[in-house]
Amino acid sequence: MAAVPADVQPAPQTLAAFEAAKGFMPVDEGRALYAAAVEAAALGLPLLEVGTYCGRSTLLLADAARAAGVTALTVDHHRGSEEQQPGWEYHDPSVVDPEVGRMDTLPAFRRTLHAAGLEDHVIALVGRSPQVAAVWGAPVGLVFVDGGHTDEHATADYEGWVPHLAEGGLLVIHDVFADPADGGQAPYRIYRRALESGAFTEISVRRSLHVLRRTGPGI
Ligand SMILES: C[S@@+](CC[C@H](N)C(=O)[O-])C[C@H]1O[C@@H](n2cnc3c(N)ncnc32)[C@H](O)[C@@H]1O
Repeated sequence: MAAVPADVQPAPQTLAAFEAAKGFMPVDEGRALYAAAVEAAALGLPLLEVGTYCGRSTLLLADAARAAGVTALTVDHHRGSEEQQPGWEYHDPSVVDPEVGRMDTLPAFRRTLHAAGLEDHVIALVGRSPQVAAVWGAPVGLVFVDGGHTDEHATADYEGWVPHLAEGGLLVIHDVFADPADGGQAPYRIYRRALESGAFTEISVRRSLHVLRRTGPGI
């Protein structure tokens, strides 16, 4: 697989929708994610994201999927992570469903995809990541882990989805912080686990976004 130049760009409509979307992916890390998605899509397999939220990062996978004629898959129960609940640092009251009294990011996600004209290139898997992974039966070319940031969730995402990642495919992990002063350690621990497994080789880093290639079996 040829390396994708780091300055490879999504379509202008995708970039505009990305910049307008609610979410947690900075532009520079988004560019690195997009480059990884373009590279992985060349395998001809679906690209899988854990942690849709309002679709900001999904747009980048969808744009790469469209260009390669594959599909982006994105998993979320749409009820928010621990740190997004009322009273916590990343809570956004505008994504609470007033009728149910709980977060629901699915409507905002659908609006994000619609704005970018990318609805036909994405399958939204609405459910708990380990439950979806347990019934998933096909190889994927990319696993992007950006779901729950506790050890319980990050480990379950790793153990649930990495077995579906084809050899040569890419594992992308967001919010990897070696120093606990910079952020929670669960994504860092699965990143270390991947490297120590001997099944992955790191191919790029953009701040907290690490990209690893699957080079062997095992997790
Ligand atoms: C950090 S946000 C994702 C941000 C998104 N990738 C972006 O770029 O804006 C994490 C998301 O993971 C979801 N999530 C957390 N734990 C989950 C689980 N066990 N199964 C499915 N989704 C989960 C939350 O609902 C939340 O929307």
